[in-house]
Amino acid sequence: MSARRKLVAGNWKMHGSHSANAELLAGITGARPFACDVAVCVPFPYLSETAVALAASDIRWGAQDCSAHDQGSYTGEVSVGMLAEFGCRYVIVGHSERRQYHQESDQLVADKARAALARGITPIVCVGETLAQREAGETDAVVKRQLSAVIHTLGHCAGEMVVAYEPVWAIGTGRTATPEQAQAVHALLRAQLQAATAHAAGMKILYGGSVKPDNAATLFAQPDIDGGLIGGASLKAADFVAICRAAA
Ligand code: 13P
Repeated sequence: MSARRKLVAGNWKMHGSHSANAELLAGITGARPFACDVAVCVPFPYLSETAVALAASDIRWGAQDCSAHDQGSYTGEVSVGMLAEFGCRYVIVGHSERRQYHQESDQLVADKARAALARGITPIVCVGETLAQREAGETDAVVKRQLSAVIHTLGHCAGEMVVAYEPVWAIGTGRTATPEQAQAVHALLRAQLQAATAHAAGMKILYGGSVKPDNAATLFAQPDIDGGLIGGASLKAADFVAICRAAA
């Protein structure tokens, strides 16, 4: 059992409505206390109501993306300065859906992580291989390349990020990585962090990809898995709470 406190973060993706959010957030806050850190990463328009709903709790909130720029003529983008005004503690960067649908490069992801840290927001940096890459034996090389760009860009601040390993083939598919498969990649990522920062032993590396109440505990029991980044199961209070309970 590691000494690292676990973190369970919900990634709502593009889901939600005022009424659904209120019910979900009430379900989560009503289930406190948790033995792990808990956060929800919500769509931008819902940051305000989320901040209000969670203000009196120890549940943290964040966004799912940010701009790498401070401000300027970038139509449709949201800066980390704006996220900070809403009390965001976290921002997800480099989710595979952004890498895939918005052609985000390793360097852009790294620049976003740097922008977030500069405003005191913890980036949750996602890395992960596609099914084709795994089957070609490229998993290690892919995740190392993705993390390496961030490590180099963050420099001495690299120890302040949270890393999330999300195999693309496990996202939204119901096909979870086995605890052993996930642990192997987490150990690799931890070793890479160890070579770059003195803080690696205390850094959180989350697993994401079809985490559900019935598989969370065995995943979280792995020595280098420090919690989860939860998609679909974060939209139902009972499931999300059960996953948080599994991260004791
Ligand atoms: P699912 O939990 O729905 O597989 O999504 C995982 C994910 O992408 C979290 O960021």
